Parts: sequence; C-alpha cells; structure tokens
Amino acid sequence: MDNNSTKGRDHWGSKLGFILAAAGSAVGLGNIWKFPYITYENGGGAFVLLYLVCILCVGFPIMVAEFLLGKISEKDAVGCFGIFRPDNKIFKFIGIIGVFTGFIILSYYSVVAGWTLEYTLKSLTCSEFIVDKPDYSSPELRKAIFKKYGTFTPAEKSEILLKAGFTAEAGKQAEQNSEANWKTLFESNDENYVSLRAPLIDQVVEKARAELGEQKFEESAIMMTKQHKASKIFGEHLGKGGSMLFWHAIFMIFTAVIVYGGISGGIEKASRILMPILFLLLGGLMIHSLTLSGGIDAFKFLINPDFAKLNKHSILEALGHAFFTLSLGMGAMITYGSYLSKKDKVTSSAMTVSILDTLIALMACMVLYPILFTYNTEVSAGAGLLFITLPALLAGSSGGSIILTVFFILVAFAALSSTISLLEVVVTYTNDEFGWKRKTSTIVNSVVIFLVGVPSALCFGGNKFFTELTLLSKGDAKLNWFDSFDYLASNWLLPVGGLLIALFIGWMIKDQEKHELIKEELGSSFYPFWNFLIKYVSPVCVAIIIANKIGLIE
Ligand code: PHE
Repeated sequence: MDNNSTKGRDHWGSKLGFILAAAGSAVGLGNIWKFPYITYENGGGAFVLLYLVCILCVGFPIMVAEFLLGKISEKDAVGCFGIFRPDNKIFKFIGIIGVFTGFIILSYYSVVAGWTLEYTLKSLTCSEFIVDKPDYSSPELRKAIFKKYGTFTPAEKSEILLKAGFTAEAGKQAEQNSEANWKTLFESNDENYVSLRAPLIDQVVEKARAELGEQKFEESAIMMTKQHKASKIFGEHLGKGGSMLFWHAIFMIFTAVIVYGGISGGIEKASRILMPILFLLLGGLMIHSLTLSGGIDAFKFLINPDFAKLNKHSILEALGHAFFTLSLGMGAMITYGSYLSKKDKVTSSAMTVSILDTLIALMACMVLYPILFTYNTEVSAGAGLLFITLPALLAGSSGGSIILTVFFILVAFAALSSTISLLEVVVTYTNDEFGWKRKTSTIVNSVVIFLVGVPSALCFGGNKFFTELTLLSKGDAKLNWFDSFDYLASNWLLPVGGLLIALFIGWMIKDQEKHELIKEELGSSFYPFWNFLIKYVSPVCVAIIIANKIGLIE
C-alpha cells in the first residue's frame, strides 16, 4: 500500500504486532553482541545496574516521546516536527539528522549482519574451527602459553631485561620503560630477540606442563590453538572483499523485501515470525547454558555489583548504549509510532518494549557467560566475542556445532528485525516528504544504502584503498570507514538526536491543543512523572555526557 498521504496510511494490524515490531527494532546486535561484551569489560553487575538506571531515566521517557511524536502527527521522522511546530522549519532539522543517522547505521549494520549469515554456514560443520592436536612447535602457541603461565616478579623481569641488553632508566619512567622493553623482547620479530626469548619461553612451557599435568596442559594448549585459529579465520573472513560484499548485499535484499511488503503486510508479518522464534531459541540456549558448570558463576557475575569496576567511561558507555539498544534518537520509534491506530496507547507499549529489550540483553549474557566461565575464564571477551571466542570455545564440544548454528541464526533474526526498522525510517521519509511510492522508496534507498556500505565491507583488508583510508580519529586511534561511522552514529548522532527530541517535546511545543493531546494520551497520573523526566532529567543527563565528550566538563 502507498503511504504518501496520511489518509490512506497503512496501520499496524494489532497492538501486539506493533509491540513485536518495535521490540524487533530494539532487539538486535546491540543486545546479543554489544551488551554482553561491554558488560563483561565493565565488570558485570554494577554496569547492569547503571544501564538499568539509564534505560529508566533516559531511554524510556524518550521512547514515549518518540511514539507520541509519530502517533499524533501521523508523519515520518522529519514531517512530524512540521506538524507540531508549523511556524518554524528549523525543527525539521532534528528529523533530518535522524534520517541521516538511520542511513549511516544501516550501511554498516548490514555488513555485520551479513557476517552472521556466513557464520551460520560455517557453524553447520564447524570443521574449520576444530583442532585435534596442539602443535607445540608453533611460535603462536608457545607465545600464548608464555603469556598465560609466565608469571615473573618485577625484579625477575628487570634482571631478564638487563641480561638481554636493555638498560632501565631511572625514576618513574623505569617501570613503563621496562614494560615497553618487555614487549619488544617478546613481540618483536627481530632475530636477536627471537633467539633471546626462546629459552625463556621453553622454560615456562616446561614448567606449566609439569604443574598442570599432561592432560590439563594439552587441553589448555588445544583451547589456545583454537582461539588462534578462530581469530585467523575471522581475519581471513574480513579480508575477503567479494564475500563481504555478497553477504552485505544478501542482507540488504532480505531487508528490502520485507519493507517492500509495507507495515502490516511486511514488517508486522515478519516480526510476528522472527520475534517469537528468537525468544524461543534464546530461551532454549539459555537453559542449556545454565546446565553448564560455569552457570552459577555467570549468574553471580551478572547480579553481584562490584562498583569498583565502574569509571567515568562506563557511564558514557551505558548511556550511549541505552540509545543504541532502544533504537532511540534517530526517528525509528517516531516512524513506527506514526502507523499506530488512534486507540492504541503508547505508554504500555514503550514499557513492554523497554522491558523486552532489557530481558533479551540479559538472556544473551546468560547464554554467553556460562560458556565463557565453563571453558576458559581467562578468555578475552571483547568485540571478537561472537565471531572468535564463541566458535573457539564451542567447536568440537558435544553439541557445539548445533548450538553455534542456532546462535548465529538467532543473531541474524535479531539483526534483520532491526535493519527493517532502519530502512523503514528512510522509506517513510521519502514517501511522506516527497510523495514517492513505497516500491520506488524501498528500491532506491536500499541500493544507495548498499553502496554507502561498500567501503564498510571492504575496509578490513578487502580492498587496499579502503583499508588504508582513515575518516576520523579517536584519541590516538585512526578509524577506518566502518569504525568512523559506528563511532559517529552511536557516540554522537544518537545522543544528540535524543537530546534534541527531548528538548523539543519538553520545551518547544507551544500549541495548547497538542499539549492536551499528549496529556490525554499519557493519562493524568503518568503525565507529570513523564513530563518531569523529559523536561529535566533526560536532557540534563544527555547534556552532561555530551559536554563531557567535547571536554567542556571533566
Ligand atoms: N536497536 C538496535 C540494536 O540494538 C540497533 C538500532 C539502532 C536499530 C537504531 C534501529 C535504530 O541492535
């Protein structure tokens, strides 16, 4: 159906359909990949609490605001500002930033989503990841064993370094200097260093073998080899430009086919299938994970707050993630809200979506952490969690290949229900503002977004030019196309968009009639609470974070 006029506007078939679609938008890579790894890096329980506070005080009120903007105006993410403030076109810029953000996010999100498809296929056999016998002569394995089991006191370290010809400098620098020298000695490929470290590494390897016993030592060595192998496979996967483009294209096609079907006939139908399956698969995997020996530890890690692990950076991370995971600050929820029927209330929907999103993020942790804790507690759980650590831990274990396959299908489903909402923001915009037909909007926008995503697919080694290209830098780190887009969108565009949306609805609506409509929507008991949050709490929180980022406050 065409959506280029409010009159013939498509609507959600039911409130449940709307909730599933909005939850589908919210639940995505953010929940299943990013939340578990940032929570792990920030020490577990305390970060979860911080994140819940951000969802409650900032995320939830802004979601209600976005639903209201969409529902009352029955317009796209840009047009809605014109309906609320017809006198001043400047407000439409808030929406334009939003549509632009959707465009940017989808272009790289679809690339990662494509990886999940390729990894589903890899998981079917898992053969690539399996290691039967560790090769003890491999330099990588020897180095890994050294890193894990080589414990030296600072005094021993400096003695070794001195023997190797490094001279320590006096004062505070000495320590840093010796760390740097230690790294040079053990990382450098210089022949001199290689032969100097060889006997030391031998010593550590033999000591570990004696202390752990042959069997344990071999298990540990197999695990290290697997991790190394999985990381190599991931590196090779990233470097294959052709296949990266292929999977990116496939994911964009899936997304476009659903969006092409319209609101009730495409997005709602798909969400009604994707979301329940996702929930069941995740629940099943969680039950399996809880039966593993690391289940209890994982649970404790997630609920025991250790506030010492939090720092200023954690707060930034928690708030930024609240926006990303709830799909806020760029008009996705405005767009979905614009297809609501008059009778559907927004508060309970926003509440359900926020709860479902959080629940699924926590469930994802409870699928992944028991596996981490059971197989190898010292495993690194950074960005490589899904594509390196998980295959390394599961391949070769009993039922490992099935679990891995189900897991990647689940991630693909979660990603798809998010990409359709990102594309829908842009499609509804070109429909409503330029009167395009859904067919034209879907095809044109998908093709352009695919093309904008090409450098994201090729900047990990697939193409020399894009691999070497730096768009932005973050501190000392130079960011490639993919990382620049992600950094720009998650750290800047979404929080700024969210701040502007909160300020707009809290302070800029002059029309009394619109205020009445909002009050009527929210009910007299909830309205004052929400009004307080959206006028003061959310903008102040987001403004502090932004001021902090630009260095205005420490
Ligand atoms: N919420 C999605 C996730 O958690 C990402 C997303 C952001 C989707 C913004 C739509 C809009 O992965």
